[in-house]
Amino acid sequence: MANGAGIEGMILGKYKIIQKLGSGAMGAVFKAQNTENQQVVALKILSPKLAKDEQYLKRFQREVRAARELQHPNIIAVYDAGAYKGFHYFTMEFIEGESALDYIEREKKFPIPLALKIIYYVAKALDHAHSKNIVHRDIKPANIMISRNGVVKLADMGLAKKIGEGAYTQITMAGRIMGTPYYLAPERISQEGDKSDTRADIYSLGATFYHMIVGRVPFVGDPKKPFQIYHDILNRPVEFPPEANIPSAIQGLIQKMMAKSPQQRFQTPRELLQTIEELFKAARKTQSTASSATSTASATSAKKGCLGVSIFVVFLFVVVVFLAVSTFFF
Ligand SMILES: Nc1ncnc2c1ncn2[C@@H]1O[C@H](COP(=O)(O)OP(=O)(O)O)[C@@H](O)[C@H]1O
Ligand SMILES: [Mg+2]
Repeated sequence: MANGAGIEGMILGKYKIIQKLGSGAMGAVFKAQNTENQQVVALKILSPKLAKDEQYLKRFQREVRAARELQHPNIIAVYDAGAYKGFHYFTMEFIEGESALDYIEREKKFPIPLALKIIYYVAKALDHAHSKNIVHRDIKPANIMISRNGVVKLADMGLAKKIGEGAYTQITMAGRIMGTPYYLAPERISQEGDKSDTRADIYSLGATFYHMIVGRVPFVGDPKKPFQIYHDILNRPVEFPPEANIPSAIQGLIQKMMAKSPQQRFQTPRELLQTIEELFKAARKTQSTASSATSTASATSAKKGCLGVSIFVVFLFVVVVFLAVSTFFF
């Protein structure tokens, strides 16, 4: 049933299911309406496998309560959790828009400045969660929603299944992979249980940023055989294909986010935010230098009224813009 077949129109407690939106490792997500106040929500039904696990259910309910305390413009609000005829579900803010993964699938990759802005807002969401001692555990493009009016919203904050408690291992033993291994921090693979902290989320955000601008994940491989991917995450350095033309400042930023050792990464989302803010500042400075250089040059060309000078001005403008862009990124 949680696969969504024929569930449209069904009533689940006070919620009426409108349509299926998608599904992931935790279950399926539906657009639904609260019949008491008409509010449209996103409703996630836990997969039967997870709902069977008593311990998981208990912790899940605790986590939904914690997630409800997170109120931030860049975090999808969690409303409430419930159970109805054996279906365990929770509801959250419905986002009209698309995920960063939908965007990548359509456009192949993001322009770097847009991706950097999105990463910045996700880091803000992580900073807020960090202040409440909550980690995400499943940062990936599918969990970053971009609303139709351009607001970045992080989904599933604090609600992802913990690795080491069965999710990935069980799924691999069953020969199916529902979660995605590509963005996992090394310590989430190698540690017993889940002792990872906000720095593991910073790693996953780095892997997400890489995917967004390169158009593929940092360590490719068949998700049905994740051991090769795990091996690369643990051992191989992060490399950028030269044809992707990623500026060295951005490469450095991602490499620091994705350092193998948590001690080598940004230690908090705040540290990451500060570094991105410096990049934004540098970009603004070079932009304003570029525009004042062009206006001076145009004034000179107008005085002389000569076609040759105008062409030279256009050439100069191109050079200045090129320099500005490269100073920002290199
Ligand atoms: N709050 C939401 N509003 C609108 N769509 C959502 C929301 N949460 C999830 N979705 C959609 O449902 C899909 C499945 O979500 P989910 O079960 O969390 O799996 P995953 O995050 O692995 O894609 C998402 O990719 C997204 O398209
Ligand atoms: Mg999700």
